[in-house]
Amino acid sequence: MSADATSPSAPIRAQVLADVPPVPGAPKPDPILVADNVTRRFGGLTAVDVEHVEVQRGVITALIGPNGAGKTTFFNVLTGFDQADTGSWTFEGASVAGKPSYKVAQAGMVRTFQLTKALSRLRVLENMRLGATGQRGESVWRALLPFLWRDQEESITERAEQLLSRFKLDHMRDEFAGALSGGQRKLLEMARALMSEPTMVMLDEPMAGVNPALTQSLLGHVKDLRAEGMTVLFVEHDMDMVHDISDWVIVMAQGKIVAEGPPEAVMANPDVIDAYLGAHHDAPVTEAEEQQQLAEIESDIEAELSAPDESPATEPSTGGSS
Ligand SMILES: Nc1ncnc2c1ncn2[C@@H]1O[C@H](COP(=O)(O)OP(=O)(O)O)[C@@H](O)[C@H]1O
Ligand SMILES: [Mg+2]
Repeated sequence: MSADATSPSAPIRAQVLADVPPVPGAPKPDPILVADNVTRRFGGLTAVDVEHVEVQRGVITALIGPNGAGKTTFFNVLTGFDQADTGSWTFEGASVAGKPSYKVAQAGMVRTFQLTKALSRLRVLENMRLGATGQRGESVWRALLPFLWRDQEESITERAEQLLSRFKLDHMRDEFAGALSGGQRKLLEMARALMSEPTMVMLDEPMAGVNPALTQSLLGHVKDLRAEGMTVLFVEHDMDMVHDISDWVIVMAQGKIVAEGPPEAVMANPDVIDAYLGAHHDAPVTEAEEQQQLAEIESDIEAELSAPDESPATEPSTGGSS
């Protein structure tokens, strides 16, 4: 609330979106992200099939839709954590399609990702420092620009400490991230995403599993990002929260954008209600599939963090031995 009240852009924001037609793929007056014909298939399943979508700069856009709609996969593809089968997309007018995640982050578009086991074994401050170059590029930058990097060390630590104190995690800086509570992890994810000074932040279910007291604080932080001029795209299931903080809502179902509009209009839209009700009859993403997705992202991070020793791969035996 306070961020809204003090943000001079609040009335302008409402006005800017007032003329946008509430239809899937609606053009926006000042889109920061534009995607065309993005598809991602897993075997026979088309998880993402987005014809056209635009995300308006400087506002909070919610991406909603039933379990298995393709929201996370769409995030993964856009931010270089997964590869699209087809499609093009631009961020700030420049193509970032097919770029690795750290390059996308360096361009200004970052997403939070869950605190995996690998990151749990790092201390809070180390987690933050990993965010400084967009999560993946640290070794590259170290190798290419050792002197520049050394000069940056101090300012990176300084920025990390400022963010930790803003998110009330400063007292945890030397703890292992695995020791944080569920809510503190969510705060750490958001704080880490801000290390690379993004212009757009993508949050995948930032309030999931967070207790009500901390939810309010997280909502406040999301509004603060907007008040600072950042663009926010977030996935959320709780319609009250969506209603509370979003300026615009985009609805996905079965990989496609099926509706868009201001929160009130979208929630009254029969297509949206259908998409949610219909989902009860479809098999949602299973626990096992979700675990697999997490494991894949985690193994990437493991590979990035661990020295190349140990664990010889176990070869699957071909043919019987007798
Ligand atoms: N790595 C994967 N392998 C196979 N299927 C996947 C994979 N990742 C996602 N899926 C499938 O793609 C669909 C979309 O999943 P997801 O993007 O996680 O949906 P949402 O985030 O909207 O719940 C689901 O049917 C899911 O089972
Ligand atoms: Mg998801």
